[in-house]
Amino acid sequence: MLSFSKKNILLGVTGGIAAYKSAEIIRLFKKLGADVRVVMTESAKEFITPLTLQAISGNEIHDSLLNTEAEAAMGHIELAKWADIILIAPCTAETISKITHGRADDLMGALILASKADIFIAPAMNMNMWLDDSTQQNYKTLSSRGITFIGPAEGEQACGDIGPGRMVEPENIIELIRSSYKTGPLSGKTITITAGPTREQIDPVRFISNNSSGKMGYSLADAAIEAGASVNLVSGPVSLEADKSINLYKINSASEMMNVVMECMDSSDIFIGCAAVSDYKPADYSENKIKKNEMPHLEIELKKNEDILKNVATNFSSSYVVGFAAETSDINNNAMQKLKSKNLDMIISNDVSDKSIGFNVDDNEVTVITCDEKIFLKKDKKIRIAREILKIIANNTNK
Ligand code: C5P
Repeated sequence: MLSFSKKNILLGVTGGIAAYKSAEIIRLFKKLGADVRVVMTESAKEFITPLTLQAISGNEIHDSLLNTEAEAAMGHIELAKWADIILIAPCTAETISKITHGRADDLMGALILASKADIFIAPAMNMNMWLDDSTQQNYKTLSSRGITFIGPAEGEQACGDIGPGRMVEPENIIELIRSSYKTGPLSGKTITITAGPTREQIDPVRFISNNSSGKMGYSLADAAIEAGASVNLVSGPVSLEADKSINLYKINSASEMMNVVMECMDSSDIFIGCAAVSDYKPADYSENKIKKNEMPHLEIELKKNEDILKNVATNFSSSYVVGFAAETSDINNNAMQKLKSKNLDMIISNDVSDKSIGFNVDDNEVTVITCDEKIFLKKDKKIRIAREILKIIANNTNK
């Protein structure tokens, strides 16, 4: 089941009697983990107050294109970029017409033009307005541009007419949006992803580990679910929660990670090694806590861990295998060498010497490298970088 956790949803509310149901739409999205912002047209405010929608969404309402204060807080272009999904519900014939003609004389029109988000429209109007040739023509034009219409539903209308024009009920709108993501480009595929650090125990209380937060791997797992895949996430110790639809395997050491990965790969099509696997582990594990009084000078001999990624590429050559290369110098060349030496299909390189990206932060900037191409993904939230990476993987595996 797809949740909306980490999804930014922009709900457009226009002036129709069904506007009172937008409060319920916000509540349902929030229950599924989404962050919801609301944009209202002037006429929508005649049907439901901005204060109501602000209280339910927990975010201020956006309603004006030319308000200096609002633009300073979150400008319309920023808002357009923020959104992963735009849903206009209810959507009037006027707003459908405005979008069809690319008009940007109010905030709603400008946002639609500026955004690359997936757009859904739940029309609500009198049946004759819906069936009118102009609206039907606009509906066809927008559908052909990739905008998804949800409804309208048939039934008794506020004006007493019976026919198509009612807004689809909030629960059904949400369900339709969810199901449109279940049939993503990776549906039917199983992906195994490693994430986070590993811990190599020295004794019962001490271990060797690293700074990996697991954010990139968990974002990849979320993006893979959104793309319709079945996901195994093999994770070292992190303080993140995995989406309920992910098969989560918690491990500590690299060798535990290796065992679980090998089992998962028996039924996986794709592997993404995103974990910061410890390269070394103590040669000997002390069953008892090492006493500092007895050991004024302590030397720990380390031996190499097995390379999980390389093992997957060798043993599962029909799977699509993706690695990460955290580098500090000559980034793309080092990554290219790793691609070849580990026999990978793809490597994703990032510069960990830049503290604003990579380890333990929310943003990343990477280059996706295969034998045929290099694609630079400029600095953005890890979840957005993850979605782009999954899109490229889907393209390559569906060829
Ligand atoms: O060789 P290097 O450690 O730089 O390669 C990084 C890539 O290899 C990452 O994808 C990481 O998850 C994977 N790796 C692994 N097992 C190791 C070391 C690294 O799977 N023991």
